[in-house]
Amino acid sequence: MASSAERGPSAGADAEAKAPSFFERADHHDAVVQGLLSGVLPLKFAYAGSAAYTHDRLARGEGYQSVTGLGTLARRALSELREPGAGPVRLAEIGPGNGRHTAEVFRQLRQDKFPPVSYLALDFSETLLEVAAQRLHGDPLLATGLHHSFWDVESGPTAAIEEWRAGDAASLSVLFVGNTLGNLEDPVAALAHVRHSVRAGDRLILGVTLRDPADDVEALRAPYLTEVFEDAALEPLLALGIDRRLLDLSIVYDASADQVVGEVRLLGAVPAGEAEVPAGHTVRCFRSRRFDLDEVHAIVSAAGWKREADHLEPGTRHAVVTASSPG
Ligand SMILES: C[S@@+](CC[C@H](N)C(=O)[O-])C[C@H]1O[C@@H](n2cnc3c(N)ncnc32)[C@H](O)[C@@H]1O
Repeated sequence: MASSAERGPSAGADAEAKAPSFFERADHHDAVVQGLLSGVLPLKFAYAGSAAYTHDRLARGEGYQSVTGLGTLARRALSELREPGAGPVRLAEIGPGNGRHTAEVFRQLRQDKFPPVSYLALDFSETLLEVAAQRLHGDPLLATGLHHSFWDVESGPTAAIEEWRAGDAASLSVLFVGNTLGNLEDPVAALAHVRHSVRAGDRLILGVTLRDPADDVEALRAPYLTEVFEDAALEPLLALGIDRRLLDLSIVYDASADQVVGEVRLLGAVPAGEAEVPAGHTVRCFRSRRFDLDEVHAIVSAAGWKREADHLEPGTRHAVVTASSPG
């Protein structure tokens, strides 16, 4: 059930055009209050409800794609995993966002004469699932239409993949791209949840953003220094009804954890459920971790996957690592 909160007075230039902020589910309100109080707001809330639309605006920009990649590596990995003469392909994607990256992968696969696929989109954000479904609807690569289902990959395994397969023996690839892994609080646990949701022999196609030693701090911060990003990062707090003028967002590079972090400092006291949070309180509302390939390998292995191949694109910071489930 959705609950809503009107947005308070806004300092943003496009304030008049902005639709009211809202939470997708009633329990998201309470979880965001919890995040505000604890000082750590998991990033998944910046994708759901009204935040899905601010994310959609963000994800249409060049800076966003410089972080998430543009489909070439996922296409290459999928094409390589495809065994000649094998039966139908099932593809389950975790976190398709607004579907733009997926649409590009599909376009490239069609060019490769990849056979039609059965596709299941899984996401924490039901609103983004609708946005992605609209974008991908009617794509000629989708053999049996498009299915989608809510899943919080951080909370535990899902039965949705097995239900969708309905006893069919076709092999499955799980697409998990766009450096979503770098947004999660516990990447090993999330990948273990994925493994426990699939069968032995199923594949993982994991897209991450690599650390580049040539990048200085300013280059790492640059994609996030925009009004569109600020809108996206603050949206869960605005959905609580907090006055935007009280939210001071800084983008910092946390070298110890190799992550770009968005930190909000409250410029005045704000209500949080029954409590009040004082001025000066800080909340981490965004994180995007950078990896080196060895770290990705360690995470994939610690989650119980058997590593298969790495796909790198010279001149970019993107990598796709494939693995199979030993069951
Ligand atoms: C960084 S975006 C990536 C979008 C797209 N894959 C791309 O490459 O542009 C993260 C996506 O993962 C979803 N997501 C974030 N946290 C999640 C979670 N805990 N469980 C499931 N989906 C999640 C978001 O809603 C969003 O669709």
